[in-house]
This record gives sequence, C-alpha cells and structure tokens, in this order.
Amino acid sequence: MTDKPKPSAQAKFEAQEKWRFEKLSAKLEKLEGKIDYATLKIRGRTEDTKGPSHAIAPHMVWLHEPYFVRAKAKVKVPGIPDIRCFFLQSCLRSLKDVPGDVAECGVREGKSSFFLLEADEAERDYYLFDSFEGFSDPVAGKDSLKSAIDPNTGARIFDGDFDKVAQSFKGHSNVHLIKGWIPDRFDDVADKTFAFVHVDVDLYQPTLDSFAYFYPRLAPNGILVCDDYGSAHYPGARLAMDEYFADKPETPIELPQGQAFIVKRG
Ligand SMILES: C[S@@+](CC[C@H](N)C(=O)[O-])C[C@H]1O[C@@H](n2cnc3c(N)ncnc32)[C@H](O)[C@@H]1O
Repeated sequence: MTDKPKPSAQAKFEAQEKWRFEKLSAKLEKLEGKIDYATLKIRGRTEDTKGPSHAIAPHMVWLHEPYFVRAKAKVKVPGIPDIRCFFLQSCLRSLKDVPGDVAECGVREGKSSFFLLEADEAERDYYLFDSFEGFSDPVAGKDSLKSAIDPNTGARIFDGDFDKVAQSFKGHSNVHLIKGWIPDRFDDVADKTFAFVHVDVDLYQPTLDSFAYFYPRLAPNGILVCDDYGSAHYPGARLAMDEYFADKPETPIELPQGQAFIVKRG
C-alpha cells in the first residue's frame, strides 16, 4: 500500500485561505442589509470605512462579529471609538474561563460598558466608577491639560449626569454605578476579584490610583486595559502606566488605536 502524498505547504495555505473566504462570505451573506457602513465612522469621517484605514475596511472580520454589530446598533451614547470598544469586547470574551468581576474607572455615559455587557459570555458583576462630574484637576508636570474646566462652558470637562446614566443601565441588575472621586469609593469593592479592568480616566493621578487599587485584585490571567496610553493629548495616562508597571512582571503592550494592556501573570 502506498502512502498518501502529503499536501505541499502551498496547497495547505490555499485550502486554509479557501476555508477562511467561505466562512467570511457566509457570515457577510447573513448580515447583508443589516449593516449600515455609514455609521462605522472614526472621528466622523465616513470615508474611513473604505480606506485609507485598513483596520476598519469593510472586509475586516471584526466589524461583522455579531456581538459588535448588536452593540453598535443598540448603543447610541457618545464615547470612545468603536475600534477600542471592539478590543475591550475581544479581551473580555477571551476571559470566559477566568472567574471575577469587571471594573471600569471612567464611565462617562457608559459606551464602553454597554459594549462589554453585550459581548460577555460569563456571569459577572460590573462595578463602574466615575465622578459623574467630569475630570479632576490635572497635575502640573504630569498632565498636559492646564485645567479641568472647559473655558466654553465653565463646567468640568466630561461633566456628567448620574441620574441619566443610572437610568440607561436600568434592567442590568449586575451593574453597580459608583459615584465619587477616584479613589474615594474603591473600598466598596475591597473584597472582590476582577477578571477585567478598564481604566479610562485620561489623567495621571486617577489612572495611577486605579492601577494601584485594581492590579492587586486582578485574577491570574486577567486583563487590564488603559484607554489613553497612546494619546498625546493625555500623556499623564502613559506616564502613570509606565511608572506603575516598571517594577511589575508585566510590560504594557501598546496598540495602534491608542490603548495599552497587560495580562496578569499567573
Ligand atoms: C473619557 S471619559 C470615559 C469614557 C468612557 N469609558 C466611554 O466609553 O465613553 C473619562 C471619564 O473619567 C471621569 N473622571 C476623570 N477624572 C476622574 C476622577 N478623578 N474621579 C472619577 N472620575 C473621573 C470623567 O468624569 C469622565 O466620565
């Protein structure tokens, strides 16, 4: 009996590509007519969906993941860019076997939290911390922002409305909105363990305080994401992350869309 010849590397590659193409085509066929490409904007430029940004070109699979499409259709509040929301969703889905809750520092109107809730495959509680009164005062020499007060409105930047946000989370009994200046209310969750932590407070001091509190409470293999690491507008966030992780076993991994993350060593 002669052995069956092994497929060449080229043949293997072609078979894989064919499989991927067929899978994607089937997915796109199902979604045909349900996707509004015009709403997949980055900074309001609809042409970005056609190029030049490869990351959000229509053939990118992530744009069609059902949990992302569902969240995109439901969540109408302003907030961080969709591409960052997708990354958060993807992290959380990788943690379905990691026990622990979710913490978010910096909620605004809840966009990132709603995307997370839509993607979660595990049962978890969500502890969402924000002043709901906007930014705290920046630290000279750490933050580039000179004042937390918006000169046009006289209010704090990202000043919020707690009751409105609370109302929009009605129906999510696992969501706990915690109002206060970071880190004043962190001890509300002193005895919890977290699988996923999202830090999105833009400024040096609350970013550092968030790492200091939540990193020790992050489960082994849990993920912590900092939203503002790559933004030149908010250098304090990067500084805080570099400082905090300088003596930890994890080194932040930076992403082109501005976030950075660590996976806690087991
Ligand atoms: C960029 S927004 C968060 C965006 C949100 N993650 C989203 O998806 O839209 C930053 C938030 O951090 C909050 N914040 C800034 N400094 C804070 C502090 N010291 N304590 C509590 N909240 C703070 C602001 O109130 C604001 O809602």
